[in-house]
Amino acid sequence: MITWGKALGIQTKVTVFIIGVVVSVLSVTTYVSRTLTEQKAEENLRERYINIVKQIDAGIVEIEELRDTRTLQEELEKLLQVRPNIVMVDIFDLTSKKIHLTARKGIEINRLVSAPDSARIEAVKRGEVLTSLEMDGTDRFWNILAPVRIRKEVSGLIRARISTKEFDDLVSEERRQAFLITATAAIAILVFLVWYLRRTVSKPIGILIEAMAQAEAGNLKSQVKSYSSDEIGMLAKQFNKMIHKIRNFNEELEERVQQATKELYHRYDELISVNRRLSEAQIQLAQSERLAAAGQVAAAIAHSIGTPLHSILGHLHRLKRDTSDDKREERLKIIHSQVERVVQIIQNLLDTVRKPAPSMVPVRINKLLEDLLYLVTPGISLRGINVKTNLDPLLPDIAGDVNQLQELFLNLLTNALDAMPGRGELEVNTSFNHSTVSSNESVTITILDNGHGIDEANLQKIFEPFFTTKERNKGTGLGLSICQDITRTHHGEIYVSSHVGKGTTFTIILPVKQHETH
Ligand SMILES: Nc1ncnc2c1ncn2[C@@H]1O[C@H](COP(=O)(O)OP(=O)(O)OP(=O)(O)O)[C@@H](O)[C@H]1O
Ligand SMILES: [Mg+2]
Repeated sequence: MITWGKALGIQTKVTVFIIGVVVSVLSVTTYVSRTLTEQKAEENLRERYINIVKQIDAGIVEIEELRDTRTLQEELEKLLQVRPNIVMVDIFDLTSKKIHLTARKGIEINRLVSAPDSARIEAVKRGEVLTSLEMDGTDRFWNILAPVRIRKEVSGLIRARISTKEFDDLVSEERRQAFLITATAAIAILVFLVWYLRRTVSKPIGILIEAMAQAEAGNLKSQVKSYSSDEIGMLAKQFNKMIHKIRNFNEELEERVQQATKELYHRYDELISVNRRLSEAQIQLAQSERLAAAGQVAAAIAHSIGTPLHSILGHLHRLKRDTSDDKREERLKIIHSQVERVVQIIQNLLDTVRKPAPSMVPVRINKLLEDLLYLVTPGISLRGINVKTNLDPLLPDIAGDVNQLQELFLNLLTNALDAMPGRGELEVNTSFNHSTVSSNESVTITILDNGHGIDEANLQKIFEPFFTTKERNKGTGLGLSICQDITRTHHGEIYVSSHVGKGTTFTIILPVKQHETH
């Protein structure tokens, strides 16, 4: 809500205040001085009117003159011509017992007027001059009763009725002029004040506010030109200094942020490269481990199957040389048993190399996959591969061996990345397969790529140990065989579907709970 205090600017407030004070002071002083002047003028007027009446008195010297109505009327006529404000003059003769009107002149000649009362006549006889102000509507009249002295004796009475109209008109004209002067002075002060305040207060403050608004909007280059050396000028200078400081501080801050960001990018790059080296080292380690294992297997196989193979070879030679050998049946039996032994030895050796006893613990498959994806991030970004994950948030933990499961999925992810040397899409999904029987509950993990795919003929062989299509030293061909083995250990299943040029999908189904192994 806007209050008046807020809505009015300093200029308006100061102007209203000063004008209020000036008008009040001017009005009061004019009123007081006018009242005093008018009172004095009123007194002078009364004196003047009394003097006029005294002049009439001075004109009557002899008692005969007081009684000479004609001459008196003529004299009065002349007087009235020069003093038109005298409305009426009566001259009374007081020498006889009864008061007697001897002359009467004026515009109210036909008005019925009674003689003054005896108290007044007595007062006049004592030499007093009686005056009274009479109001008639808006008109005012001075009634003057004065004695006519003949040789110092009060012999008659002059009653004059004199209009103050001329004086009153003058007074009201003067009042009007005084009011006009006061009003003009107030307007002049107002105009001057508005002009002056605008120049010294409103305009500089407006400029300052505009500069502040610009600074608030982010323009720290705004400066205020200060022309004056008063408080507003100082405020402007202070504002300029402050803005300058803020600008410097901002620039410094920006520079520091830029430096920090650069440093951060640098560290980030370093981290990425360390991560990549780590992941490469891990993959190489896994590869070398597998190669070492394969070497061990090969050596063990060579050592273990050397004897039965020699025996088979010997028996085969003899069978070939002598077809009528009566021990033919026996030899074939031996060959068969030795071949079975070879198979068994290989199987046993593979089992020993591949499978350390699994330790089953609750495993969070989603977390495990996310960690692995993070591990292969360098490989992913290096190849410009886009990764999409669709991990079921309600996926339950499954019982499994963390290391084996890591190896399983790392093999599949590595294969998928190897299948997409250029750009590509890798998708990792998990889902929960509900079942009314809790022992049948399982999770499905699919790893999809849109790499080169596997042709029909190879698809049959990919799970065989040592089957690889990769260059020498790039692949051992044991990855998928190990995957299959690990899935079996977990009582799960592994499927593959692939189209050449379109991509490959590996699907792994793992039970949530592990069955008892018999
Ligand atoms: N996602 C895939 N896309 C295309 N071919 C694949 C994929 N996964 C596996 N293969 C094929 O199956 C073969 C066997 O894979 P496997 O993981 O067993 O061995 P490898 O990857 O060649 O070597 P290793 O995993 O021991 O380093 C691969 O050489 C490749 O031809
Ligand atoms: Mg592989």
